[in-house]
Formats: sequence, structure tokens, C-alpha cells
Amino acid sequence: MKHILVIGATGQIGSELTMELRKRYGNSNVVAGYISGAEPQGELKESGPSAIVDVTNGAMIEAVVKEYQIDAIYNLAALLSVVAESKPMLAWKIGIDGLWNVLEVAREHQCAVFTPSSIGSFGESTPHVQTPQDTIQRPRTMYGISKVTTELLSDYYYNKYGVDTRSVRFPGIISNVTPPGGGTTDYAVDIYYSAVKGEKFVCPIAKGTFMDMMYMPDALNGAISLMEADPSRLVHRNAFNIASMSFDPEMICKAIQIHVPSFEMTYEVDPLKQRIANSWPDSLDDTCAREEWDWNPAFNLNTMTVDMLEKLSAKLK
Ligand SMILES: NC(=O)c1ccc[n+]([C@@H]2O[C@H](COP(=O)([O-])OP(=O)(O)OC[C@H]3O[C@@H](n4cnc5c(N)ncnc54)[C@H](O)[C@@H]3O)[C@@H](O)[C@H]2O)c1
Repeated sequence: MKHILVIGATGQIGSELTMELRKRYGNSNVVAGYISGAEPQGELKESGPSAIVDVTNGAMIEAVVKEYQIDAIYNLAALLSVVAESKPMLAWKIGIDGLWNVLEVAREHQCAVFTPSSIGSFGESTPHVQTPQDTIQRPRTMYGISKVTTELLSDYYYNKYGVDTRSVRFPGIISNVTPPGGGTTDYAVDIYYSAVKGEKFVCPIAKGTFMDMMYMPDALNGAISLMEADPSRLVHRNAFNIASMSFDPEMICKAIQIHVPSFEMTYEVDPLKQRIANSWPDSLDDTCAREEWDWNPAFNLNTMTVDMLEKLSAKLK
């Protein structure tokens, strides 16, 4: 990876991934792709090149790939789970027609491609505890359907055309930088903002609902490590289970109360979010990622909580 394009660079993951890639590969070698209305701001804008890249427009992707001699694309364009349920056709257009455009450009111009899948690619009939790498994937949400298709289409381009596609199934990502974009796990970010602001948190997910989560530094490291991994060791491609922690709302609340004893939480369950959460795994088995490219996360719930509270307190001061 010498010249990298991040599509969806101003989203929750993209905004931090772009900065991390610039740190590792040089500012001028990482292009922040964005769409009109979601322009880069501040350090993201100042620190390196940026370009309008709409995934639904293949010619636009190709022009940027040619101009910057791109050899690796991180394709993060998507509608997240809750938003996708209200706009299913648009979710498909961005997630799948968009991916098709990216893969075609990658085939023509020999680019490696990373397009994240998700814990949302599983469904009710999947084993929910220690969900295996290779198992039943029959989701009923448009988000999940588009993620399973992402995995299959990415593998198809690798097997048929040799395009170097690789991916992970991200759990819910927790970060103190860019707010999440409308997913089922957003509560696990919002709860920290409430704690730091001294507000009571109203949780939209029911007590006892376990989901896999991950702190942003581990998510970034996972994506980049996989793209740098020795291809001869990869048995799987799209997409690897990766895991670092699994908790329910009570556990994250208690982890926060250790540091903010006055923090309080009540429940007002959102039926759509709860339905989606119920269909997702409680925890993932990430043995294949550990064996094939040495996946090894650094943060657990407690160390993440300390860091989140510290960073958000400084930010919101
Ligand atoms: N955040 C999470 O917890 C999480 C968990 C699992 C998987 N993922 C996956 O990671 C990827 C990034 O997620 P995120 O949380 O940063 O999402 P986000 O909603 O914060 O960002 C998505 C980005 O896509 C951009 N976008 C929308 N339409 C586009 C188009 N037509 N062309 C180009 N860009 C377009 C948006 O402007 C935004 O910058 C997605 O594929 C998502 O499904 C995220």
C-alpha cells in the first residue's frame, strides 16, 4: 500500500482511519474521499489531499484512482443498520452497486480493496454465543443482507479476477472523536457522553442484550494489519470475525460507575434497535483472525472506559 483512497472518509470510522493511515504512510499518500454535504473539516481537511468520491459513480472513483495512482482502497461508504431499515433501496445502491463500482475500478487498476462487513451479517438462525467464522448467515435486515452480499461479491472478485479483497466483520465501534452514524450499537458511545456531561442516560437497548463491541484504536489496527498481512497465510478473505469485548447495558453502566459513581441509567427500549440487536450474535469467535494474521486487540471494557472518560472529559471541558 503506497497510495491509498479512503471512501467515506468523514464518517465515524473513516475520519480516524484516514488520520491513522496518514500517520503510517505519509500525509500526501492518503486521499480522503467524501460526498457533497459531508466535507472534511479541521485536521482531516488540512493534513492531506481530499476528493469528492461518490461510490455510486464509477467514473468518479476511477478518475481519483488514476490522478493519485491509488493502489489500495478502503471503501467505508454505507448506510448503517437503523438508517438502512428506513431507506433499504438506497442502502443497497450505496452498499452493493457502489461496491461493484469500486471492485471494477480495482480490477482495472490493480488496487487492493477493504470493505467492512459487520456483526449485522448474521441473523436469528446463527449460533449466538461464540459465533464461528464460517456459519449460517441469514439476516433479515437490509443492512445484514447488504453485508452478506458484500462478503460474497468481494470473495467473487478475488476468486475470479485475483483482486486483493480483504475484510473484517466489525462489531459496534466505540470512539471519542466522530459520533456514530445511526447504528444499533450507538448507545455504547452515547452513554459515555451522558456520563461526562453529568446527565442521566436513557438506554434504548434492553438489559441483558449482549453485543460485541470494540474500541476504535483496535478497529483501526485490525483493518490496517489485515491489509498488510502476508497473503500466503490467509485461508479466509471476506470477512474475518474480530472481537475484543462483549457486554450488555448493565455491564457498561457499572464500568462507568466505578469512575463516575453518581451516573444513572434508565431504559426506554427502541423496538427497531432491539429487534436488530436480538438478531445479532452475543459474542464472536475470532480464532481464524488470530491464527491467520495475528489479530490481538489491546482494549477491554475497563481500559476502554478509562480512556473514553478521560478523552471525552478533556474534549467537552
Ligand atoms: N461504526 C460501527 O460501529 C460499524 C460496525 C460494523 C461495521 N461498520 C461498517 O464500517 C463502515 C463505516 O462505518 P461508519 O460507522 O464510519 O459509518 P458512517 O455512517 O459514520 O460513515 C459512512 C460514510 O459513508 C459516506 N457515504 C454515504 N453515501 C456515500 C456515497 N454514495 N459515496 C461515498 N460515500 C458515501 C458518508 O458520507 C459517511 O462519511 C460501513 O461499511 C459500516 O457498515 C461500522
